Amino acid sequence: MSFPERVRIVEVGPRDGLQNEAQTVPAEVKVELVERLADAGLKTIECGAFVSPKWVPQMATSAEVFQSITPRDGVAYPMLVPNMKGFELALEAGVREVALFAAASETFSQKNTNCSIEESIKRFNEVTREALAQGLRVRGYISCVLGCPYEGEVSFDTVLMLTETLLEQGCYEVSLGDTIGVGTAGQAQALVEGLTRRVPVERLAAHFHDTYGQALANLHAVLQCGIHVVDSSVAGLGGCPYAKGATGNVATEDVVYMLDGMGIDTGVDMDKLLEAGRYISDFLGREPVSRAATALLRKKAG
Ligand code: HMG
Ligand code: MG
Repeated sequence: MSFPERVRIVEVGPRDGLQNEAQTVPAEVKVELVERLADAGLKTIECGAFVSPKWVPQMATSAEVFQSITPRDGVAYPMLVPNMKGFELALEAGVREVALFAAASETFSQKNTNCSIEESIKRFNEVTREALAQGLRVRGYISCVLGCPYEGEVSFDTVLMLTETLLEQGCYEVSLGDTIGVGTAGQAQALVEGLTRRVPVERLAAHFHDTYGQALANLHAVLQCGIHVVDSSVAGLGGCPYAKGATGNVATEDVVYMLDGMGIDTGVDMDKLLEAGRYISDFLGREPVSRAATALLRKKAG
């Protein structure tokens, strides 16, 4: 087992990070955040979601946000989509990459998308087929891979079935969501080892929330299994409105600090990343939820 030389970070702050915020974040603030993240060198920035505004009001400005970004060469701006209606809105806005999501828990699937796992696979299939036909790239998420807020333990076989199905349907990558951050390192490693008996590790990404403070340890474990794509959120923002008590994703600053220290290249400039985190944290009126950001900002302040 060894570590990758390079890790691609998928910044999900403007979507996963903000979707659970109670106060409305204006479109221009989201756009400024995205631009600052791109300045910091992030090459994949999930900018919003074409989900029902009745379900997640914070994402209602996603089309405006997407269309106000100045696209940069080499940067992908995926948008989350739950169904055909969301896909049509994304297409209309000019989106070139969509992220679809399913869950390994029946109850979570119902609470999050108002449909069964089986129905979500059908929706996935329909949207993926159309997206690929239109030349878009499709990324897949599976929620609750290490535990569900309603059902507790989830079945490995369901995670495997979904991973294989989403890849067969044409997702270029499947991101494994520990939605409520309950997993520990041995479990995360066993999950990835189990999956990679059947699917190439190059097609998997880690999307770990940090609710129980385990995300960095879990990432350290799965990097050794060959995972080299990590989802994270600037300033540790985030949470899912349908996973009560779940806090943010692992903070991008914490991931970059760890990987920098391990000599693993991310292409991210920590100083600019700190500025992006400071910007959104100031807007929200609180400190970044990142130990590395807090320590580095304090050091800078002298
Ligand atoms: P539904 O109520 O069953 O939808 O919701 P419906 O098809 O019956 O339609 C009802 C109304 O919503 C209709 O409008 C539709 O047009 C409209 P009306 O006729 O009442 O005026 N509608 C839409 N509007 C805008 N965009 C759409 C859309 N679809 C229907 N796409 C639905 C089903 C899937 C829409 C809803 O459950 C939903 O939006 N869910 C999304 C919830 C969400 O965003 N959760 C957070 C993101 S997932 C996550 O955070 C996990 C992840 O980070 C990984 C991890 O951490 O595990 C990805
Ligand atoms: Mg998430």
